[in-house]
Amino acid sequence: MSKISAFPRVTAPQIVRCKAEGRRIVALTAYDAVFAALEEEAGVDILLVGDSAGNVIAGHSTTLPMTIDAMLFLTRCVSRGTSRVMVVADMPFGSFQVSAEETLRNAFRFLKEGGAQAVKLEGAGYLIPTIERLVQVGIPVMGHLGLTPQKINVFGGYGVKARTAEEADQLFEDALALEKAGCFSIVLEKIPAPLAKRVSQALTIPTIGIGSGVDCDGQILVNYDMLGIFDKFRPKFVRDYLNGAALIRKAVSEWVEDVREGSFPSPEESYDSVAEKIPAKK
Ligand code: KIV
Repeated sequence: MSKISAFPRVTAPQIVRCKAEGRRIVALTAYDAVFAALEEEAGVDILLVGDSAGNVIAGHSTTLPMTIDAMLFLTRCVSRGTSRVMVVADMPFGSFQVSAEETLRNAFRFLKEGGAQAVKLEGAGYLIPTIERLVQVGIPVMGHLGLTPQKINVFGGYGVKARTAEEADQLFEDALALEKAGCFSIVLEKIPAPLAKRVSQALTIPTIGIGSGVDCDGQILVNYDMLGIFDKFRPKFVRDYLNGAALIRKAVSEWVEDVREGSFPSPEESYDSVAEKIPAKK
């Protein structure tokens, strides 16, 4: 008889409990199985398959072109590369704004086909009934407030959000509404640190900050930023843990040189034929 194991991955209730227990949540983006496995081994709790893939993987200037099929492919890669972390799939632009029904259908795909345990949606307000439906049917939802890059064409830039008292109050109300709708956590992107603190203190669910100060209940970064691989621009909230781009450029130029001058491969990096290994009969 086959043994059915207990659910091995980090769950939404565990993420919520982290806050009550005072344990900071560590999240990072991932887009492929190899990076995902390394990040899991290093101890992160949540891997977000972010639509930032539009920038760092697909080479677009915004996240808007990412499609459900593209995000599903990346989500499957991250799920296959991991066994313990919670995999959260970012719902791309156009996949959750049209109607609750369509959002549900799309979100189901991320859990059924992508192997994710939750989805993330940017925004609040009109989305609250949709989020309630998602949670009711069994799809944990991570909210996202502040700088929501899918609204780049409305915002006109990637600057800090909610700097005025009015905007700060609106964001605070949105956060409360997301918690009430059933979100298990909320990403706070690029908002003033004192506002992030106020929101974090008011909520029972954890906030996960990116460019929003130290008082969030957890932190997330784009892995290519954190590892210094994506060096086209570097927001001030990114700390250099590795100079990935420089290391990769150096390694690849060494390889280019070795191939051009004929020093790669060496005999040790080459195979003999079987016949050469068998001693000739006398
Ligand atoms: O798409 C993404 O990577 C994100 C994070 C920056 C939170 O939404």
